[in-house]
Amino acid sequence: MNVWSLSTKVFTGIDSLERLKSLKKKSIFIVCDPFLIGSLIFKEIITLLIEKDNQLQVYSKVTPDPPITEVVQCMDEMQGFRPEVVLAIGGGSAIDLTKGVIFFSEKISSVPIEKFVVIPTTSGTGSEVTSVSVITDNKNDIKYPLVDNSMLPDEAILNPKLVLSSPPKVTAYSGMDVLTHALEALVAKNADTYTDALAEKAIEIIFEELVRCYENGDDLESRLLMHEASCLAGMSFNLAGLGISHALAHQVGGKLHVPHGLANTMLLPHVVKLNARNENAKKKYVRIMKRLKPDKNIGSEDMLIENLSHSIKSLAIQLDCPLSLTDFGIEKSLSRKYLDEVIRNAKKDFTFKTNPVEPSDQELGGIYTSIH
Ligand SMILES: NC(=O)c1ccc[n+]([C@@H]2O[C@H](COP(=O)([O-])OP(=O)(O)OC[C@H]3O[C@@H](n4cnc5c(N)ncnc54)[C@H](O)[C@@H]3O)[C@@H](O)[C@H]2O)c1
Ligand SMILES: [Fe+2]
Repeated sequence: MNVWSLSTKVFTGIDSLERLKSLKKKSIFIVCDPFLIGSLIFKEIITLLIEKDNQLQVYSKVTPDPPITEVVQCMDEMQGFRPEVVLAIGGGSAIDLTKGVIFFSEKISSVPIEKFVVIPTTSGTGSEVTSVSVITDNKNDIKYPLVDNSMLPDEAILNPKLVLSSPPKVTAYSGMDVLTHALEALVAKNADTYTDALAEKAIEIIFEELVRCYENGDDLESRLLMHEASCLAGMSFNLAGLGISHALAHQVGGKLHVPHGLANTMLLPHVVKLNARNENAKKKYVRIMKRLKPDKNIGSEDMLIENLSHSIKSLAIQLDCPLSLTDFGIEKSLSRKYLDEVIRNAKKDFTFKTNPVEPSDQELGGIYTSIH
């Protein structure tokens, strides 16, 4: 028996910030991405909350790929304030930092938080609807995904106005992260009809809208669609799981400090080819290819898989993404140095378990080496 449910309430659209008016006379701890400080949109949010007699405390010392030391610092501030509501506004890093704080706070404090609300500012991680938080151990350069339902947000507010300021690079890398979530969830071991529906729709939107968002960041309609695709992909992988693109991307991010979405961009075309060895995965890739490019729906299944891998690369090229670590400026000798460690740690990553194919060490190393 499969049980299927979505826990986070999603408020979406240009007017979705109105939802904040439901918070009245609460103490609210806000974790906010530093780029927002001083912006008009942040002022709008603060004004909405103050008008309803809420008491606010803002924490904005968020760095990309949040380290565990930052979680401890933020947790200290939050514990001092003892909020009823926690509100995270920002990219995946700000949201994951907040989730880490909630996770550890619940372990040491007996006062639970009434409500956890998330407003994403990148169309990328889908973290607003997942029970996952990725925290970095800076001493050992390892990214640790924590997975626990205590971190699942109660509400997510998807407002495209929050993404308008996203620079082209952030738009490109986070958008390619969405594609990786959707394509990995589609073939993951726990995928079912429902998670497939979410993943397939997300993939369609990405191929239609991501370049438009990249080239014209002010296109509100495209921005909303990409924001929704990110959320759909998050819902899908939260239930279906991810795969070895993420297992390797977490190592590439930890050791070589490559932005998460970019690491996935480089890895995904190779992972798709390996995973097509699984008949079910192959069937799903072929089906999505036929939907995406009906005019190119000719040739063998193997050719369609080749086409899918090629389509991912050509999307990345349109987004000016470097396709290898060397193109990103990392010396081959440095990437090579980490080969054994990358293989060892990727196999321990929680996303490895749900990949449709269990690769040998040689195959895993081969994918890593192919992006040098
Ligand atoms: N929790 C999950 O389910 C999950 C899934 C995938 C990735 N992740 C993690 O999320 C992190 C990546 O998150 P991300 O891709 O959202 O990037 P990010 O949060 O690291 O943000 C990247 C940069 O863009 C800035 N930024 C964000 N939104 C902006 C906007 N609207 N305008 C201007 N600048 C903006 C940030 O300040 C930051 O400097 C990684 O640590 C990754 O491992 C988590
Ligand atoms: Fe990701």
